[in-house]
Amino acid sequence: MKQARFFRIPSGVIVGCNASSFAGREAKKLGGTKALIVTDRNLTEMGFLSGIESSLDSEKIDHEVFDEVTAEPTLDYVEKGLDLYRRSKCDFIIALGGGSPIDTAKAVCIMASNPGVIQDYKGLDKVSSPGAPLIAIPTTAGTGSETTIFTIITDTRTNVKMLIGSPFILPSVALVDPLLTASSPPSVTAATGVDALTHAIEAYVSVKAQPMSDVFALSAIKFLSENLRQAWANGDNLEARSLTMLGAFQAGVAFSNSSVALVHGMSRPIGAYFHAPHGLSNAVLLAPVVEFSISGNPKRYADIARAMGEKVEGLGVMEGASKASKAVRELVRDIKIPALATLGVTREKLKTVVGKMADDAIASGSPGNNPRKATKEEIVELYWKTFNQDL
Ligand SMILES: [Fe+2]
Repeated sequence: MKQARFFRIPSGVIVGCNASSFAGREAKKLGGTKALIVTDRNLTEMGFLSGIESSLDSEKIDHEVFDEVTAEPTLDYVEKGLDLYRRSKCDFIIALGGGSPIDTAKAVCIMASNPGVIQDYKGLDKVSSPGAPLIAIPTTAGTGSETTIFTIITDTRTNVKMLIGSPFILPSVALVDPLLTASSPPSVTAATGVDALTHAIEAYVSVKAQPMSDVFALSAIKFLSENLRQAWANGDNLEARSLTMLGAFQAGVAFSNSSVALVHGMSRPIGAYFHAPHGLSNAVLLAPVVEFSISGNPKRYADIARAMGEKVEGLGVMEGASKASKAVRELVRDIKIPALATLGVTREKLKTVVGKMADDAIASGSPGNNPRKATKEEIVELYWKTFNQDL
């Protein structure tokens, strides 16, 4: 290795059924005396908090609940959460939920010990002091936010999604409990699962890939492609749920340390202009972008095909690599990812905004990590290819 690289992962990781019941014990090890639990009201109403609350009670750790995070994280949630954290004299945070509560909690943690406002920390490596300790407990198998150094907060006043990246954002502990995903409906399992697969594939082909993240990326690709269909078709299949969630966690580890690429660069504008969910936007883009990108690093795409269960032995490297897009397309079809047209994207509106979407994708920086660089014209063409594809 010519260049030294950082590799970061939470210092405590517990994976498996009932991992969330370790919240109290892990909080005690962190020296916490009063938690702010940041979550989503649907989860409190469904009783998801009770196990965590009783594990805190058994360690005599007090807590306060902020359960207003019901949509994508905004400045408003961060301000309200921080206010409650300070007023209640909490000294650590537990995030419970999908990406939104975890991302909100990360921002509150940072603001608990840094001056100014969260907007001051937009970009990479702007945070100067460690935040409050964070225990992250995901309830979807997808975002990987429980193990990443990133948070995305929407500034509703300017409508800008601010990416904030810093090692100080990394949760102290991740409790990865597949039992918490058991009630996810098939559509959520599909969208979040393909988001995770996209994290793993992009981490592996990224120009910033490194040997430490490669291990996690390939393992994630294997677990996700072997188990996502089953987790989608039969939510009660705990083995498939467990391995899908493990794959999503490993994919988070991989992309947090080597970054995402063209798919994520292109999916954010679909979310911004058409309000399509993040996971679904990635899912529809994945096969066309893999097809486009293969020539940039065919050896790596052949590895992905192999990890997805394709037979590549005896094939030339380009032929083996092409099996990666075939495997992705089949998976996306099998778990019934809806086409862009059914996500509210119309031909007429796409025509008017596609140029701006391509500009925004390039400006995000993620396409710069892709193994094959895409021009603006090529990105426009990829949006149309994605829109017109049969799923
Ligand atoms: Fe993602």
